[in-house]
Amino acid sequence: MPDALSSAEPVLIVGSGIAGLSLALMLEEAGVRSTVLSKAQTGTAGSSWYAQGGLAAAIGEDDSVEEHIADTLAVACGLARPDAVERILGASQAACRWLLRQGVEFDRNPDGGFSLGMEGGHAHRRILHCRDATGRGIINALIERVRERSERIRLLEHRVAIDLCIDSDDRARGVYTLDLQSGEVELLRGACTVLASGGISGIYAHATSVSPAHGDGIAMAARVHLPLTNMEFVQFHPSALHGAKGVLLSEALRGEGAKLCDAEGVPFMHEYHEAADLAPRDAVSRAIGRHLERTGAECAYLDVRGLDVEFSRRRFPYLWEECARYGLSPDVDLLPAIPAAHYSCGGVHVDDRGQTQIPGLYAIGETAWSGLHGANRLASNSLTECVVMALLSCHNIVLSRLSAHSGRIPEEPPFRTVRRPPDAEVVESLKARSEAVRRSVTQHLGIVRRTDDLARAVREFSAERAAFERELPDLPLCPEALELRNLLTCAELVAISAHQRRECRGLHYVEDCTDEELMPVGADTKVRLTPVDLSG
Ligand code: SIN
Repeated sequence: MPDALSSAEPVLIVGSGIAGLSLALMLEEAGVRSTVLSKAQTGTAGSSWYAQGGLAAAIGEDDSVEEHIADTLAVACGLARPDAVERILGASQAACRWLLRQGVEFDRNPDGGFSLGMEGGHAHRRILHCRDATGRGIINALIERVRERSERIRLLEHRVAIDLCIDSDDRARGVYTLDLQSGEVELLRGACTVLASGGISGIYAHATSVSPAHGDGIAMAARVHLPLTNMEFVQFHPSALHGAKGVLLSEALRGEGAKLCDAEGVPFMHEYHEAADLAPRDAVSRAIGRHLERTGAECAYLDVRGLDVEFSRRRFPYLWEECARYGLSPDVDLLPAIPAAHYSCGGVHVDDRGQTQIPGLYAIGETAWSGLHGANRLASNSLTECVVMALLSCHNIVLSRLSAHSGRIPEEPPFRTVRRPPDAEVVESLKARSEAVRRSVTQHLGIVRRTDDLARAVREFSAERAAFERELPDLPLCPEALELRNLLTCAELVAISAHQRRECRGLHYVEDCTDEELMPVGADTKVRLTPVDLSG
């Protein structure tokens, strides 16, 4: 019998970054209600909030969508899907117009035109930005709109998604969640469920955001046996502030003339790449690694001193503020810089509308593999992707939520745990284990990889994940346990994909890889998680 209530259910969106909030607002414009789930305060958890650079769109007079497409394909090293690149970048101007209608104030020149930034791999200035805190600029505007529409958009904060609920017809029906305030587990039902919970940079010891994502959506999708594509392509940003937690030195600084240099202020990027400081990110991050190895230095430096101080303060206020917290002044000091995990180009395999292979389940933004980024992401293409994929999936979601569901919802969730609050000792030990996993991921699956390390990582993370899945039913349900579970799952997925790719391509660089191992151009890696037998 069809479930009469289902078409009245809101769409459930896991994640309140730019992708999730954009989709909620677009659905609202189409008359559809949604619930947006956030682990912390809406909008501030995750990477969108910390995005500095901006949103790439070919709107300059000397620019064209064709050139933006060509730059994206060149950086992607043969693995982006040309049709996806054309579709997503072709809609980038529509995405900008939509953001402007929501009240986003991109920086403008004195003549009223948009001030367009420059970043590595782009042939033109095409980065729309809100000073150097574009993520905040966009999210603040979106949250204001969401609050005005609270009748149709419900924000649920401090809720951690645990697992997807799949009915007897194999359709996604919502998400089991842990309420961090009450400790209660609740099934939140959704007419459709959308994973918009970010990527996996939080599985590394150093990331460019203060609250990087731990791959919650990716791990949940993997646990219902969905394929994950190209998980080996993890982008390291060349310049995080060394010694700080999650402070990025935006690539826009190099776009305006800042240079990577050694402790004496001597620039070195021209020794490694013809495009020097504006080479694609994988090349810059590897060059820094090589330079540090050659010189034995602990970190590189970014020399921002050549920028006009008034311009620099106005254009990069967040940088000045953050540097001041660490006793640095960008007009006087060289800024210590080190690569850090930044973005995952792979993710949950989706079609051109963000639909996964499970009916009723979508993935957008960094959680998804849409075919845009290939083996390396062009700077500032990700915010574009977040808004465009929200636009493209919205129409489908509006239609598909109307289909009747007759599948039974399982009586029990797909996990068991003990129902008592965790004691401090358990929490501390789970945190320590998560830190150990991050160190190990950084060691085995970093910027430069080795074949034997990859094989070791597959063995290590597969065994650890299986052991932890067996341990989980005896642990109190707490965010630390869920985090460790997702970290281990994503670590295993990256390790298996990286081990599968028998070549160096884009972000995946294996120093002992030989030419004979080349995979055909265009071959994506696809991984499915092996279920753990919990019966024993
Ligand atoms: C940056 O500001 O350097 C980051 C921009 C991006 O990752 O797209």
